[in-house]
Amino acid sequence: MNYKSLIAKTLMPYVNLSEAEIAALLENPPKADLGDSAFPCFNLAKIQHKSPVVIAQELAASVTANLPDYLQTVKSTGPYVNFFYNQAYFISENIKEINTAAAHYGQNDTGKGQTVLLEYSSPNIAKPFHVGHAFTTILGASLARLYESQGYKVVRLNHLGDYGTQFGKLIVAYEKWGDEAALQKDPINELLRIYVKFHQEAKKDPSLETAARSKFKNLEDGKEYETKLWQRFKDLSLVEFNRIYRRLHVDFDCWNGESFYSNLIPAVVEDLRSKHLLEESEGAQVVRLDEENLPPCLVLKSDGTTIYASRDLAAIMYRYKRWHFAKNIYVVGIPQALHFKQVFAVLKKAGYDFADNCVHVGFGLVKFPDAKFSTREGKVVLLEDLLNEAVNKTAEIIRANNAERQQEMSEAEIAQTAEKIGVSAIMYIFQKSGRERDIVFDWQEILSFEGDSGPYLQYTYSRAQSILHKAYNIPATEPLPATDTADAAAINAAAVQGLNLNESTYALVKELAKYSEALTLAVKQNEPFVVTRCLNSICRAFNRFYTNTPILKAADAEKRVLLAVCRATVQVLANGMQMLGMDTVDRM
Ligand code: ARG
Repeated sequence: MNYKSLIAKTLMPYVNLSEAEIAALLENPPKADLGDSAFPCFNLAKIQHKSPVVIAQELAASVTANLPDYLQTVKSTGPYVNFFYNQAYFISENIKEINTAAAHYGQNDTGKGQTVLLEYSSPNIAKPFHVGHAFTTILGASLARLYESQGYKVVRLNHLGDYGTQFGKLIVAYEKWGDEAALQKDPINELLRIYVKFHQEAKKDPSLETAARSKFKNLEDGKEYETKLWQRFKDLSLVEFNRIYRRLHVDFDCWNGESFYSNLIPAVVEDLRSKHLLEESEGAQVVRLDEENLPPCLVLKSDGTTIYASRDLAAIMYRYKRWHFAKNIYVVGIPQALHFKQVFAVLKKAGYDFADNCVHVGFGLVKFPDAKFSTREGKVVLLEDLLNEAVNKTAEIIRANNAERQQEMSEAEIAQTAEKIGVSAIMYIFQKSGRERDIVFDWQEILSFEGDSGPYLQYTYSRAQSILHKAYNIPATEPLPATDTADAAAINAAAVQGLNLNESTYALVKELAKYSEALTLAVKQNEPFVVTRCLNSICRAFNRFYTNTPILKAADAEKRVLLAVCRATVQVLANGMQMLGMDTVDRM
């Protein structure tokens, strides 16, 4: 139920504003005695040259004279019109809507016919998959699902870092110090080892750098030997990356890495040159961006080789030709903000307006107070280590709880459940706050079964599931029956009106009803945490409802509604967790 639009329609006959204009003005009152929604009259006062207080009184009187079903009362408080919802109507309509739309609840098709490109993850070949890549991967995959929930066609892109002079170095290093057995067993670590060794040795022997440059030149020229080795490094890295993607349930539609765009660069350079945008600077070719207050963008190095920025320019041109994107989104850390500003500015200067539809979605840093994951001495923290640690710690917690409650979970179920809870806990922490905030890794907080955590969502979900299973007398491991049509028919405003339902039931349904708007806002701001916050509020409201309401002991008519509320909670939590990439568990 979109109450903003309901109220807007109610007010329209009395004010000279459109539905959208009224909806945009509506506010959530800070206190319960100011109702469920409030309309400020300041704007109207300006137009009508009347006191906003008088306008509010008149509007309240007009609506009261013709009170629609969904409202209980309307009154004015100073310059505001306060709307109090009819709670029976609100509960029944929302519950019905949620349980009918089920897995689709919360979605809409505002984005229909438009394509959004989401580039995320984009790790570097032959380098470890570290926490920074976890951040982009988790955020990006959620944004992809969120855009889809609004009807957009989404193309998921993994812009692999598979090109550049470092591959010349790797080839030289492999020839000199490569250990074939180690490469088979632990490819990325072995590639990293020889890469580090290259840099140590090159300090003593500069001829290594020359050799590396010539290897990279051969690679750029498509020579068979170098291309084969490079492909092998890439394939080996992808085996490891795919193992991680499977655990995170992440996928891509297009895996074109930087190497793919390398061949398309000459055309871009030619285009910039013909538009007189290229200038020479210390032997290199740059585009000056003085008017934009940005440093020049380096397009070709002095030796004629291409660089990161030119590959991005070529990639955008290619993407626009292929997909005619409405938006081209980059989920990449904040340190690359300048790079993207420059790339978009160059395109804009070259007359490509689609540059305005390119968006850099940045994110903060991850910090580890825990000595075990210290990042000192340039060490990076690997995502896989974090996932394993989270899963192991979760298994211990479940084992302890299990013994305490004498629940009989087999070791296999514990392992499976711990994987779901542990991985989801990591997913949660990356989406818990605004993405530009730094994350401080605190295991206690991450794995807490209460509070602002992934396990708390799963715990609440399983609690709601377990009441339903008890009520229907179905074992925890079996699925619930589909919603009963008799139930659906019985839950209407008139039937709910006379029932004895408490405030916390209404408060819970109010939180559930905010879910659709949370999805829309999350997309508007490219912030999955808006959904996280909404789900967390639902959990808090559910746990209050659970404590205050003897659901299973209620009289039949009440129980029917309370169980439907539990079902709706399960549904919204499941839908929302799916958006965030998290798994649900039926018991924990
Ligand atoms: N591979 C880069 C890194 O790991 C990120 C790539 C970002 N995407 C882009 N189109 N430049 O830092």
